Amino acid sequence: MEEVILVEQSLKLTGEVHLSGAKNAVLVIMASLLLVKGKSILKNVPHSADVDQMSKLLESLGAIVKFDAAMHTLEVDATNVENYSIDHGAMRKMRASVLVMGPLLARLGKIALTYPGGCVLGKRPIDYHIKNFKRMGVTIHEDDNFLTAVTDCLQARRLVLEYPSVGATENILMAATLTTGVTEIVNAALEPEVIDLIDALRKMGARIEFKSPATILIEGVSKLNPIEHTIICDRLEAGTFLLAAAVTGGEIFIPEIDPGIMDVFLLKLEEMGHIVKSGAGVGGIAFKAARYPRAVSFKTAPYPGFPTDLQAPMMVAQCLAEGESTIEEFVYENRLMHAQELLKLGAQIKVGGHTANVTGVSELYGADVVATDIRAAAALAIAGLAAHGCTVISGVNHFRRGYDQLDVKLQALGAKINIMHSDSLKLKHSKWAREELL
Ligand code: EPU
Repeated sequence: MEEVILVEQSLKLTGEVHLSGAKNAVLVIMASLLLVKGKSILKNVPHSADVDQMSKLLESLGAIVKFDAAMHTLEVDATNVENYSIDHGAMRKMRASVLVMGPLLARLGKIALTYPGGCVLGKRPIDYHIKNFKRMGVTIHEDDNFLTAVTDCLQARRLVLEYPSVGATENILMAATLTTGVTEIVNAALEPEVIDLIDALRKMGARIEFKSPATILIEGVSKLNPIEHTIICDRLEAGTFLLAAAVTGGEIFIPEIDPGIMDVFLLKLEEMGHIVKSGAGVGGIAFKAARYPRAVSFKTAPYPGFPTDLQAPMMVAQCLAEGESTIEEFVYENRLMHAQELLKLGAQIKVGGHTANVTGVSELYGADVVATDIRAAAALAIAGLAAHGCTVISGVNHFRRGYDQLDVKLQALGAKINIMHSDSLKLKHSKWAREELL
């Protein structure tokens, strides 16, 4: 039975909110545990559908995975990993499945997989991964949608990325940890989630250094050891809460977050007129929404630029701000689909190519909308909190993929947001209709 998210207008979200571990750090760090024989323990692991999916993938390769969702602790023992064939279903359900490529090449010297294919965000090829593995001595056979990669011995090389791809950087990095010699990744992605992976790899015994401005040097070692590692807090979840507070005129405190990994995003919130306090003595981020926020323009870019994963929720804030905003999406070829849905709530947005021009309106109105990706789901939930009446969001699977109890955490700040079966919603609708008649 289909589930939907029911959001009712909920002004002035208030309180302290605690963050989960970062989805985009935990997935790759789980994959990196394939490099190690023995039992590793990850802490601060969010319970999201993608984490469940990555657990299943590791198990299908022969790893033993135990997840204590209540304690947010995940154990992985990859001692007996022998399977190198990735199920097509896994690739289709979660693109991050491609992140087992580097560890399996380093550990077993082979992998067979299908291409992840395009997704709702656009084409999303894996050519940077493939090109650089070839340069490291991997032979790749491509047959229709099927890909096999084999190597007798990975070779350390100086690899120049034409674009700082997060996934390609992570895949090469993991493979290079067990490759004799020094591998250089020039123009590497330096997202906080990549840095968390590097922290975990260093704990395993990997030798990794940085060279300015964006080169990662990896000196291969012969063996890596099991670790205990705590996943960094999710900056994207933090941004989502800040924007939920911004559009509802709220005031919140997020203790765990390091504001230094959100600089450009926080700068834009301040330009809107919101009060953002961080730094010495604050111990996190204290946020108070402006009464009459101003619209700001922004463009997405690799870290430390404005994160594409906060573009959709930030668009919602522009829909309700005074003035005009130009939003340029430069990371993905097609990540403005939420604009169509926001129009249904009464937003004024014109989309052309990579750009959305938003004219702020004073009110949004609840409607039935569809979430097309993880961040669109969060954005529509935020819009629903600010909109008059009720907003019903379908595409709950996206919401569950990226967040651990985002609905419950928002409720604790005063939000009226509930995930329910569509049948229960129908009952609720008829109850409201009866109440209106009385
Ligand atoms: N790209 C290529 N060729 C490649 C690799 C990437 O053309 O071989 C293009 C992509 O098509 C995309 C751009 O480069 O247009 C950026 O891709 P990147 O490789 O940097 O991203 P990713 O590793 O696929 C991770 C996150 C995404 C996040 C991006 C950018 C994970 C599991 N996913 O994806 O997260 O948007 O980095 O920061 O870490 C999300 O959480 O909602 C999400 C989509």
